[in-house]
Amino acid sequence: MSRFYITTPIYYINAEPHLGHAYTTMVADAVARAHRLMGEDVFFLTGTDEHGQKVERAAQKAGLAPRAFADRVARSFEALLPEINASNDDFIRTTEPRHYASVQALWRSVRDNGYIYKGKYEGWYCTVDEVFVPETQLVDGRCPTCGGVVEKISEESYFFKLSALQQPLLEHYRSHPEFVTPAARRNEVMAFLEGGLEDLSVSRTSFTWGIPVPDDPAHVMYVWFDALTNYMTAAGYGSDDPLDQARFEKFWPADVHLIGKEIVRQHAIYWPAFLLAAGLPLPRQIVSHGWWLMEGAKMSKSKGNVVRPHDYIARFGLDAFRYFVFREMVFGQDASFTDEAILGRYKADLANDLGNLASRVVTLLHRTCGGRVPQPSPALLARSEERAVLDAASALVGQVKAAIGTFQLSVALRDIWELVGLTNRYIVAREPWKLAKDPDRRAELETSLFVPADALRVIAELLRPFMPTTAGRMLEMLGCPAHPASWSTLAAGTLQPGTALGQTAPLFPRIELTVEALRDMAHEPTASSTASPAKPAPQAAPAAAPAPAPAATPAQEAPVAEQISYDEFMKVDLRVAKILEAERVPKSKKLMKLRVDTGLDTRTIVAGIAEAYEPEALVNRTVAIVFNLKPAKLMGIESNGMVLAGSAEGGRPFLVGFETDLPPGSRVR
Ligand code: MSP
Repeated sequence: MSRFYITTPIYYINAEPHLGHAYTTMVADAVARAHRLMGEDVFFLTGTDEHGQKVERAAQKAGLAPRAFADRVARSFEALLPEINASNDDFIRTTEPRHYASVQALWRSVRDNGYIYKGKYEGWYCTVDEVFVPETQLVDGRCPTCGGVVEKISEESYFFKLSALQQPLLEHYRSHPEFVTPAARRNEVMAFLEGGLEDLSVSRTSFTWGIPVPDDPAHVMYVWFDALTNYMTAAGYGSDDPLDQARFEKFWPADVHLIGKEIVRQHAIYWPAFLLAAGLPLPRQIVSHGWWLMEGAKMSKSKGNVVRPHDYIARFGLDAFRYFVFREMVFGQDASFTDEAILGRYKADLANDLGNLASRVVTLLHRTCGGRVPQPSPALLARSEERAVLDAASALVGQVKAAIGTFQLSVALRDIWELVGLTNRYIVAREPWKLAKDPDRRAELETSLFVPADALRVIAELLRPFMPTTAGRMLEMLGCPAHPASWSTLAAGTLQPGTALGQTAPLFPRIELTVEALRDMAHEPTASSTASPAKPAPQAAPAAAPAPAPAATPAQEAPVAEQISYDEFMKVDLRVAKILEAERVPKSKKLMKLRVDTGLDTRTIVAGIAEAYEPEALVNRTVAIVFNLKPAKLMGIESNGMVLAGSAEGGRPFLVGFETDLPPGSRVR
């Protein structure tokens, strides 16, 4: 059995996961699932990148030791995986002992082969991207990649002889044109390589949160040397256990490192260079996708323009969310995430095209064929309309496999929807509901329902990697076995006549969401069940309470935040404030702009109480606020603090009040 090893980048743990992270993992998941269906032995890896200056600083800020901080934040990345139905086989954390052993083994190999020497690094460093930036590449004195502030560093450092590997790398690129894809990224890497390579600083001495350099623990390894090695660690590298060693033999080199386009250089130059220096085989392919943009800019935590997957999954259901991101982003290009687009695709592609097709066919079969797959007539199946649908279904298997082979998930889904459209048109043309009224046309009726049912079966089997739950439900409705059919034998025409069908259930229920409601949701406090350690889920429901989930989604249990100490609680500065002015935020149903007297200043707070209170009823009210909450922009208005309110699950918020009017500024504890 051939094997297939696919990885995602390991994610930095300085912020909560957002759509960007979830996207890479979902794409890798779809590809991994497809390869399993093609009969391969798949190993799918994801994980977290936990060392380095950025994480050390985030931990300091949170008042925690780096390891304790890492343990807490890594959990939110792990918790995302079941939420997006990721079928990963392993989750690696770079703070695990197995990884220390592996990275140190790689370092020793590279060093013993003469590629590491000691020197002094003087220059610029971007902590956001964890990269050294040559002075010539600074843009207005800032990092050319993220635009962030760079710091001057000057310290003893080990260097990796990257310059010595320029020619071997170029040769590899010339003999393996598919090594980096898409071609635009490969061309950038080639241009960079041809421009010559400088040796790379691979250790730091000015902080300690990293893997110690073997035999010189005053140095910790450069976080990218550490991080990239995760791909080998999880396969078993650096372990004494014969089972791990056998696994490494089997799965290394990886087939695909799937990454976002901003980390191509580390994967396409540094990583193969480290491996060449150690005499190890190189991964087969580095596949890079584009960025999710919001209002034209890369979605990122630092810009605060992120889509929180949970918000959309709770409203549309997971498979609809997966469908949307796979369908919307053309491989290699950037894509904008808009509420209009996800609503539009939900209604048109999912509820209307696919959902209606499935429920129409299965309902008709229940009504006219006793709830069983009918026996088609061979003569009628030979007609051109029937052949067109069944031939298209058989051809689709190859098309989808090919599209997945080149990571064109949007093309695979577009092709599947071609068949959905063709099948819908077939039914409209054959009008089985009319045939059902005429007993003499029984054979025509049965054939005209067998054809779309069989096409739906192929569609469902091909949708498994993209929308696993929906595909399973479709197959259940069609009475097909729960275990996946292998794609190697998948073809049209094999639905078994006589099979009892399952019950019809709407795949994509009608939802009453509007673009405005979705826009408001983006400004609400996190509704994620993956409680952020840096920002714990508030206990008292914040005034901007999340909208109740639509009927389509199973009720989610309210997340309970973990215990905190008295000292941690006392960090929240709760105070009495008096509302001076109140007005609704234009274009928002939920948000109210308040001017409050806090006793120490007057400030603006935007609160999600507009559905529950009239502005006039708020003026002069005494409320409790979080005084020391970092400012945040809600619908373009800077909000400085939070007004406390309580609400029953899904109910209206009620402001927290006092038995007597306390003066503004009084502490609340
Ligand atoms: N820790 C490094 C990677 C080390 S791999 C050995 C890192 N981590 S990260 O948390 O910043 O995650 C980067 C990855 O997240 C990107 O490569 C991409 O896969 C994904 N995305 C983050 N933001 C994104 C978008 N806005 N759009 C699409 N994906 C992006 O870099």
